[in-house]
Amino acid sequence: MIYPVLRMGDARLLRISRPVERFDTPELHQLLADMRDTMAHLDGAGLAAPQIGVDLRVVLFGTGAFNPRYPDAAPVPETVLINPTLEPLGDEEAEDWEGCLSVPGLRGMVPRWQRLRYSGFDQYGTCVERVVDGFHARVVQHECDHLDGILYPMRVRDLSRFGFVEELFGPGTPPPDD
Ligand code: NI
Repeated sequence: MIYPVLRMGDARLLRISRPVERFDTPELHQLLADMRDTMAHLDGAGLAAPQIGVDLRVVLFGTGAFNPRYPDAAPVPETVLINPTLEPLGDEEAEDWEGCLSVPGLRGMVPRWQRLRYSGFDQYGTCVERVVDGFHARVVQHECDHLDGILYPMRVRDLSRFGFVEELFGPGTPPPDD
């Protein structure tokens, strides 16, 4: 089922979400199915459970072979990540534009760790662990921030590089809207 995505200003986006305690349950599988439907409907690169009002540490991300919202990004495999832990590797940061389905029509320049290890579980309780960098690392950090009530505009350091897509990039220029 496609759910409405909560928008910035909704207090539910600011909560610290609760860890999942039981895996491979009908409820958890249904949540992932609903998140997948909602993300696909909106061509999102990722979605966190709090964005559909569910107070659990569950994120889903991935771009498949091609995502029209991120035409230049290297593909990110579809990944379910539950109760995630992120560990930066090195102290290198990278800045790039981000958008968010909860902040429609806007983009901001956001610093993130360039390289990190993430770990957690999938919906069956199987361990997931990867070392990633670049766009993949960025997507994970963005989605996991949602579990701690952080939206990307809170991380924008230079607010002159935060605004509406059309004004930042010009009319008719991708990136497309949200
Ligand atoms: Ni987001």
